[in-house]
Amino acid sequence: MAADNFRLTKEAALKYDSHCVPAMFGPLAQATMEKVNLRNGAHIVDIACGTGALTREIAKTLSGKGRIVGVDLNETMIEVARANQPESDHTFEWHAADVCNIPYKDGSFDYAFIQQGLQFFPDKPAALTEVHRILRDQGQLFLTCWRAVSPFNGALADALERHVGPDAATKAKAPFSFRDGDLISNLLTDAGFQISRQDALVLERRFEDLRAQIMALPIEVDLRKAGDRIAEAVVAEVAAKLAQYDRSGVLHVPQEAHLFVAET
Ligand SMILES: C[S@@+](CC[C@H](N)C(=O)[O-])C[C@H]1O[C@@H](n2cnc3c(N)ncnc32)[C@H](O)[C@@H]1O
Repeated sequence: MAADNFRLTKEAALKYDSHCVPAMFGPLAQATMEKVNLRNGAHIVDIACGTGALTREIAKTLSGKGRIVGVDLNETMIEVARANQPESDHTFEWHAADVCNIPYKDGSFDYAFIQQGLQFFPDKPAALTEVHRILRDQGQLFLTCWRAVSPFNGALADALERHVGPDAATKAKAPFSFRDGDLISNLLTDAGFQISRQDALVLERRFEDLRAQIMALPIEVDLRKAGDRIAEAVVAEVAAKLAQYDRSGVLHVPQEAHLFVAET
């Protein structure tokens, strides 16, 4: 999901929201918010907010009348996030913008969140410097990024490599392309943050319909081009590799994330 090959269609954003969010990004957002203690009525920005999986959890957790801003490069993701905006006393604002150019003044926010966005930012130092700029003194950043290639994406990449080609395999592993905790720590420190906490969040991605989840990923385009027979072979190969995670017809596949908490 690099900025240059991330799918921009509304259909893709809706598929992301209906398949990827319940399976993974919603549970990750819940696990993150269990570690967070927000100040009453805080001003919060969710950067690379996608369709708002974490933004909605922030709104549930925040007490008082807060201000919640969602920013994402993709207008289509923002459209879905805006349509899903929960009923609450908080003020919501949504922007289609690049992380390196967030349309707010210095020190606008108490907290910033980035859930699974850092790996896709082409200029990571500039992105984190911009996040630091819009946080107030003693503001806090909560950042998650995958910690290891998940068995699901590993199996999918192997099957794609064999049946479709190396570009599709690379795309399947793109979300895991930046997982070195020391590298992330150094980037945060270089951008002016002080890291107060680094945890591992261990989750399970649920697959009730493996094929549907595979076809909700950016590699759907490659599988459609390759044709039905190849797509079925890829799905079958991934299913066989993940058989050990089957519990009563539902796959529960482990997936691990870094959680960094950093202060300005
Ligand atoms: C894996 S999704 C995560 C979305 C959301 N945080 C969630 O947990 O569901 C990555 C998001 O990063 C966004 N993104 C990629 N590059 C970006 C950039 N340069 N600036 C802002 N957002 C970006 C994408 O549009 C996409 O919505």
